[in-house]
Amino acid sequence: MKKFLATILALTMILALAACGGNDSGSSSAPPADSGSQSSEPAASSGGNGDAKTVGIAMPTQSLERWNRDGAYLDEQFKAAGYNTIVTYSDNKNEQQVNDIQNMLAQGVDLLIIAAIDGNALNTVMNDAGAAGVPVIAYDRLIMNDNASYYVSFDNYTVGKLQGEYVRDALDLDNAAGPFNIEFTAGDPADNNAGYFFNGAMDVLKPYIESGKLVVPSGQTEFSAVATDQWQTDVALDRAQNVLASFYSGGAKLDAWLCSNDSTSLGVAQAVTADYAGGNSVIITGQDGDVANLRNIKDGVQSMTVYKAVANEAVVTLDLAKAILDSGTADGSLISASGWDFACDYDTTSYQTSDGHNCPSFLLVPDVVTADNMEEKLVTPGYYVVGADGYLEATNG
Ligand code: BGC
Repeated sequence: MKKFLATILALTMILALAACGGNDSGSSSAPPADSGSQSSEPAASSGGNGDAKTVGIAMPTQSLERWNRDGAYLDEQFKAAGYNTIVTYSDNKNEQQVNDIQNMLAQGVDLLIIAAIDGNALNTVMNDAGAAGVPVIAYDRLIMNDNASYYVSFDNYTVGKLQGEYVRDALDLDNAAGPFNIEFTAGDPADNNAGYFFNGAMDVLKPYIESGKLVVPSGQTEFSAVATDQWQTDVALDRAQNVLASFYSGGAKLDAWLCSNDSTSLGVAQAVTADYAGGNSVIITGQDGDVANLRNIKDGVQSMTVYKAVANEAVVTLDLAKAILDSGTADGSLISASGWDFACDYDTTSYQTSDGHNCPSFLLVPDVVTADNMEEKLVTPGYYVVGADGYLEATNG
């Protein structure tokens, strides 16, 4: 419960950030983009002292809502547990993230938590961390380097599967005559998660494409054709506008647009609202439960989001870090020992940092949120509150 209250405090900061249009150019809770890092002492209540261990927390960017939540949750929880923290956001620039992590190593961090911008481009710092004996938890996104000691994330394949199943059920693909028209928008090719999300969805929908029940008028069904550089809303918007202009301006009906996450979903929804001439409401998927997308869901502009309770991801990361640093048992027994009130699997076979090298993974369980269950899934557990205008807000402070 204490952890939960700490997260509520953290969310207050995030709301303030979001109100300022959160970016990487600095705020009281995050460093300016160019300076990279912010050290902080342990919370006074934790009784921290000079001997406290220091944890480096490298987040990708403040320009996407979820990473502000993750950074704040991790920072709060590690400080409350008596650790010093250094938190960086690297403006979605890989070189900056490399510099930020190098600075953390130079400052003698005892453990690194890294949500990689490009999981294939951190070899130098990862090798430095390995040489210095600093354990690394790959946070949310896997890092393709064997010095990644552990991976903490949600079941990424299941995220995509839930999106695909939502489309399948909403269109009643097993019973309805069809055919139905669908388009796809996937994530950043540099993000190891993006392929898992896309494959999870495709594995559900591909049989219907092959049978002709689902048709993709653009013909763009390969990940490389539908990927979105850095998950940017504007990039997704541009491509959606092009697809609509090229394949739907003649009156073709658009039934569904599978989007891998909320930032891309925002761009697609904007294009559909502005440029799609059909009168039907289009099924649009998402992931994260960003506030703007929850508004769209309530307004019927987006159909669903796959919610991942990142507060719980931070809890797992903290307990794992404690086990690593304070010589507890850092394996699957952590799950039964922890007393977490949420589901988490220990998986030693699904994620490889190189051929034949498995990364032990703690995988949390994602959940589908729609207009109908939004309050039950997000408000009742305390992740969001209903604002005065009836839309969900991250917290009321
Ligand atoms: C995360 C998603 C997020 C995306 C863009 C992925 O790695 O798992 O939750 O939507 O990055 O930030």
